[in-house]
Amino acid sequence: MNQEIVVSGIRSTGNLHLGNYFGAMKNYVKMQDEYPCYFFVADYHSLTTHPEPAALKQNVYKVLAENIACGLDPEKVTLYVQSDIPEIPELYLILNMLAYKGELEKTASFKDKARSQPDNVNAGLLTYPTLMSADIMIHKGQYVPVGKDQEQHLEMARNFAQRFNHRYGETFPEPEAFNFGTQLVKIPSLDGNGKMSKSENENATIYLCDTDEQIIKKIKKAKSDQGPLTEFSEMPDYIVNLFDLMQLVSAKETVEHFKSTFNHCTIRYGDMKMQLAEDMIKFISPIREKTISIKEDTALIQKIMKAGKEKARESASKTLAEARKKIGIHFYC
Ligand code: TYM
Repeated sequence: MNQEIVVSGIRSTGNLHLGNYFGAMKNYVKMQDEYPCYFFVADYHSLTTHPEPAALKQNVYKVLAENIACGLDPEKVTLYVQSDIPEIPELYLILNMLAYKGELEKTASFKDKARSQPDNVNAGLLTYPTLMSADIMIHKGQYVPVGKDQEQHLEMARNFAQRFNHRYGETFPEPEAFNFGTQLVKIPSLDGNGKMSKSENENATIYLCDTDEQIIKKIKKAKSDQGPLTEFSEMPDYIVNLFDLMQLVSAKETVEHFKSTFNHCTIRYGDMKMQLAEDMIKFISPIREKTISIKEDTALIQKIMKAGKEKARESASKTLAEARKKIGIHFYC
C-alpha cells in the first residue's frame, strides 16, 4: 500500500454519466487497492444551484449507490457525504482568508457559471475552489483523481496549500490531479459540442442509469455524415469522438475494424453506431441494475454513510486541530 492519500468527490447534482466514470470513477476503483482513499458526495457544492431539499437527499443516496455499483468497496475506502464532516466548512472558512477575489473571479468555471446563470452569481460559486481545496486538504490529500475540467481547481488548491504552509509552517502536501493513464480525461458529448455533463445537453450525454433503449436512441442520433470520400482523409472531430467512445467500451479489434473501413471509405456509420450501442449497453446495464438494487436498500446506504462519516471525521479532526494550532487558535491547552 502506498502512503499518499487520495481524495476525490462527485457533486450530487444529477445522474452520473460516462464522463464521471472514465474521468474519475475508473481511477477511484483502481486506486482503492493501492492507496488510502477518501471518496465523498459533494452535496455542499451542489447548493450553488439551490436544489429542492427532497431531491437533494435522493440524489445523495443515488450517487452513493452509483459509487458502489461502479466498484467502490466501502470496506476498502472511506466513503462519505461532505456535509457530514463539519471540519470541512471550518477549513473552508480559514482558506477563504488566503484566497483573493481577483484569482477567484478569474477561475474558468466561475466565469462560465456567471455567464450562464447571471441571476445567481452567489458567493458559494465564487469560493467553489476554496471549498474544493478544503475537501482535499482536510485529509492532507496528495493525489486527486479527476477529469480534465478540474485541472484549474487543483492548481488553485496547490496555491492555497502553499500559502498556508508559507504563512503558518509546513502543514499540507500540494495536491495533484491524478490519472492512471497520465493524461487527464475529457469525455466528449455525442453532438460534438463540449463535454458530457450532468445538467447540460442531456441527449448528448450517456448516463449510467440510461435504459438500453435510451442508449440506442442517443447513439443513433450522434452527429455523423455521409462518410469520407477520399482514402485516409482526416477525421472530423465528431467522428473522432465516436471512435473515442468506442475505444472506452469496445474490443480493440472492433475499433481497428471500423478505423480501417473509415480509411478505405467503406465505413457505414449506422453499423458503427449499432456496434457502439451494443457494447455500451454491455458496459452500462450491469452498473444500472446494481445501482437500482443498492438504492432500494436505504438502511444499507445509511449504514455505509455513517461508517464513512466516522472514519472521515477521525482524519479531518486531526488535520483541523493541527491547522488551528498553527494559526494560533488554541486557547485551552
Ligand atoms: P463533478 O461532480 O462535476 O464531476 C465528478 C468527476 O467527474 C469528472 N468529469 C469528467 N471527466 C471527463 N469527462 C467529462 N465529460 C467529465 N465530466 C465530469 C470531473 O472531472 C470529476 O472528477 N468540483 C467537483 C467535485 C468536487 C471535488 C472536490 C473533486 C468537490 N470537491 C475535491 C475532487 C476533490 C465537481 O464538480 O465534479
